[in-house]
Amino acid sequence: MSVTIGTPLQSSAYKVLLLGSGELGKEVVISLQRLGVEVHAADRYDHAPAMQVAHYSYTLNMADAVELKQLINQIQPHLIVPEIEAIATEVLLEIEAQNIATVIPSAKAVNLTMNREGIRRLAAEELGLPTSAYRFADSLESFRAACDDVGYPNFVKPVMSSSGKGQSRVTRFDEVDAAWEYAQTGGRVNQGTVIVESQIDFDFEITLLTVRAKNPETGEIETSYCDPIGHRQDSGDYVESWQPQPMTPAALEESKRIANKVTTALGGCGIFGVELFVKGDKVWFSEVSPRPHDTGLVTLASQFQSEFELHARAILGLPVNTARHSVAASAVIYAGVDGRNLSFSGLNLALADGNTDLRLFGKPEGFKRRRMGVATARAETIEQARELALQVANQVSVNQN
Ligand SMILES: Nc1ncnc2c1ncn2[C@@H]1O[C@H](COP(=O)(O)OP(=O)(O)O)[C@@H](O)[C@H]1O
Ligand SMILES: [Mg+2]
Repeated sequence: MSVTIGTPLQSSAYKVLLLGSGELGKEVVISLQRLGVEVHAADRYDHAPAMQVAHYSYTLNMADAVELKQLINQIQPHLIVPEIEAIATEVLLEIEAQNIATVIPSAKAVNLTMNREGIRRLAAEELGLPTSAYRFADSLESFRAACDDVGYPNFVKPVMSSSGKGQSRVTRFDEVDAAWEYAQTGGRVNQGTVIVESQIDFDFEITLLTVRAKNPETGEIETSYCDPIGHRQDSGDYVESWQPQPMTPAALEESKRIANKVTTALGGCGIFGVELFVKGDKVWFSEVSPRPHDTGLVTLASQFQSEFELHARAILGLPVNTARHSVAASAVIYAGVDGRNLSFSGLNLALADGNTDLRLFGKPEGFKRRRMGVATARAETIEQARELALQVANQVSVNQN
């Protein structure tokens, strides 16, 4: 059945509830607004980026099942679009089972990917995809044994964490106890379980944006891929990305095979950010986001339909086009300072080159390593695009008032 979009703020409205209202959600909301959808945005703090462009906004603890259920009952959305992982996902399983709303891409996908253990076991053990060697541990003692099993160097991550929080790279046995302590401070919920992963010695890492969307004629869900996005991470956080990332035809084919398998298993419609490590023709699955990916901000400059437009279209059951028109890069703009009411200057010079662009997210509060904006640039080559994007980001200065 194809979707019918009504009129926002009237009884025919097609309603979407966004759970999490960050910068990626803000772009999704803008894309939905353009298609006449009524958008409701929720987050744990007031004036979050996506709230500023939605019809309605709500501040609540989305990890609280009672609060979340109450909000869904009050809005009665057609679609629920999670933008973050810290959500009471058991409520979403219930909502989907009772046919109250459609969870994007599926309650199963949201539930499995909110915990590194769920998605890793699905990918490696059920689907047989290549991954790093790994162990899970929930006590210091079992953690020491897990590190010895996996070997050194290894990566330690709380199973419920994102953006590098509580993560460390352990090179020797005498660093193990400190890594355990650090992981205990960085998890989302104080549950204590960590994953220990062997280090993959990759040439580069990519995000393969993978879209599951309905074929307009048959209504069947089909999978399509954006060109691979290369990126540079600093302390588990993305600082720069570019598209396309050159790779061998065999590695690209293997990347698509892995992305297809994991996204098919997760199900539903929408965009997925499949993170892969590549060395020559060999590819390892790392993790997947069942939603737009931060490194995919580059698609605002490189594609006819950005990852946000692709997501908006796919979740509404509309056709998508993943074609790229340009070589482009993105570079993150950090606050660099702690404080509220920040201002941004140097924009005239930053945007002097006609192939550059900027997004300022409008976050009410910044701290040193908080992402406040992103610069994008188009150029002939990847190197030029990266250099130009970094230059734009560096020209923006953040000031305290
Ligand atoms: N097993 C590994 N081998 C090599 N590098 C890794 C490994 N695990 C993580 N990394 C590095 O750390 C980054 C963040 O890890 P990731 O698992 O993606 O955490 P997050 O969920 O915070 O993004 C990766 O993009 C990669 O650069
Ligand atoms: Mg990641």
